[in-house]
Amino acid sequence: MDIVLSGIRPTGELHLGNYFGALRNFTKMQYENRCYFFIADLHSLTTHPKPDDFHANVSNVLAEYLAAGLDPEVATIFVQSDIPEVSELYVILNMLAYKGELERTPSFKEKARKHADNINAGLLTYPVLMASDILIHRAAKVPVGKDQEQHLEFTRLLARRFNNMYGAEVFPEPTAYNFGNDLVKVPGLDGGGKMGKSEGNGIYLSDDEKTIRKKVMRAVTDSGPTEPNSPMPEPIQNIFTLLDIVSTSDTVQHFRDKYNSCEIRYGELKKQLADDICKVTLPIRERILELTADKEYLGKVVREGSVKARESAAATLYEARKAVGFRPF
Ligand code: TYM
Repeated sequence: MDIVLSGIRPTGELHLGNYFGALRNFTKMQYENRCYFFIADLHSLTTHPKPDDFHANVSNVLAEYLAAGLDPEVATIFVQSDIPEVSELYVILNMLAYKGELERTPSFKEKARKHADNINAGLLTYPVLMASDILIHRAAKVPVGKDQEQHLEFTRLLARRFNNMYGAEVFPEPTAYNFGNDLVKVPGLDGGGKMGKSEGNGIYLSDDEKTIRKKVMRAVTDSGPTEPNSPMPEPIQNIFTLLDIVSTSDTVQHFRDKYNSCEIRYGELKKQLADDICKVTLPIRERILELTADKEYLGKVVREGSVKARESAAATLYEARKAVGFRPF
């Protein structure tokens, strides 16, 4: 039985990238492993959210997690800021993280370029906080999307560095994990890049059928292949990547064959994609609507989750403090 952990920042509604990158795989693993799933609200503070919106977002994503299939009877579901042990481990690990390596992290460079007016220390040490989330529960597997690969690599580095420096095997090295062999990058349908909230190209679990169909039918395409077996331009590849994720392999093969023989009709391809996305998301949407209204239940889930998470976190922090040399008088 492995320890599995994952988390998502409460930046609004969950989109297909979050769902297929981190959540769906987790919901499959939760019955066979010891699982922790959390809302990374401390990480969200880098962008200074307004306090009232912030709480509403946390509550919202919690309802969406549960609607997407997280089962609080088997998985430990909690809010990151309810676990102060994480912040203490973050302080300890910060001493082992060097400025140069943090500055070279691709996600830091990208955020610093996009938001040059808000390059705060929390942004620089974001990967250290993420490592603390993972290491505090000594997780072995971390379901994440491709964009988190480097953060997992850095987590492994910090685990090794801590164990070597203090001569104690406190932290195992976790691996990034997804349902195929490779980590998933769910693309947007706007021509290039990944699906994301800040990219403004999200298809959300809470979207209704009409909205989903509209978004998919607007996907960027071209005038179609003119030669058999010609390479696919990125916007078309992206449609196929999504189809790969939500449709059966027969359906995908059918459209690939049509593309390769230059008989593809993008309208049909998009209709199929919209149908298959709806099959995945509409049942989740119904549950989101029910759960969002049940604040009492949501509160119970995270209160119980935080008790379990703190127990596990305190046990690890005890070992880490001992290794570092914090001793009782
Ligand atoms: P965040 O909130 O940006 O995204 C949450 C999860 O969703 C995945 N994801 C995607 N996967 C594939 N394709 C996409 N288009 C896509 N968009 C988002 C992300 O890879 C991620 O798995 N730092 C993390 C949150 C975090 C965390 C952790 C995760 C904090 N501590 C510890 C795992 C373990 C983040 O910002 O993810």
